[in-house]
Amino acid sequence: MTSTRRSFCELGSAALLVGLVGCGDDAPSGTADAGGSGDPGSSTGGGGTSGALEASGSSSTAGESSSSAADTTDSSAASTGSSTSGDGSTDGGSTGVDLCEASPGSIEGPFYRPGIPIRSNLDLYGDLGIAVHLSGRVIDGDCLPVVGAIVELWHASPAAPDRVPGDTDASYDATLEYRYYGQVATDARGRYAFDTLRPGWYLNGAEYRPAHLHVKIWVDDEQRLTTQLYFEGDPFNDGDPWFDPTMVLALADDGSVERDFAI
Ligand SMILES: [Fe+2]
Repeated sequence: MTSTRRSFCELGSAALLVGLVGCGDDAPSGTADAGGSGDPGSSTGGGGTSGALEASGSSSTAGESSSSAADTTDSSAASTGSSTSGDGSTDGGSTGVDLCEASPGSIEGPFYRPGIPIRSNLDLYGDLGIAVHLSGRVIDGDCLPVVGAIVELWHASPAAPDRVPGDTDASYDATLEYRYYGQVATDARGRYAFDTLRPGWYLNGAEYRPAHLHVKIWVDDEQRLTTQLYFEGDPFNDGDPWFDPTMVLALADDGSVERDFAI
């Protein structure tokens, strides 16, 4: 079943190579990605953020208006569940108390792109940034590993470690390279892993969104979870309309962090 999903995605990539020729210019505004929100997901409830916007990283005003419909749709596609208890900084690790409860969902945002390449290293060119080595398990409601689940990760471009708000904003790649987009399948222990860089900030209207990672999980071609991960200590966590304190990553000094997803 894993191979089926992977093949699907590979075919999707091929199709996209053709399709993007005509729609690539739309992607920065978020409209091109809106089509990806129509996945027949296994929505288990609304994300509670319907109607809220996630703006383009390059043009906040245009991005807001064009991404509105996408995000409204996306919120219904986000799989949700009871939030795990705890302070949010460690609940996703292997030592959390409520690991079997479904991980909370969030909006997909306007920059999801079908056909995400199969790869675990999202830093294609050794960009300047802060290393993030994200790994963990996908588990079911009985805390059993889900083998062959597809974990998709995508995020905005990284920021230099000394970046401050007002520097060049981060943005999502709309090219055929799919920079900072990747998907992997969970192994026999239900584990996944990605190496990437901490994303930068971009404006959502007049406010910056905190650094965040988008995650989507599929099982047997069924969308099971769409969510976002945040970073401990980000100055824009507070006040962000989608920030979820139970979805915060606390990086070790080497950038490693464990995060399990229950579906
Ligand atoms: Fe985003």
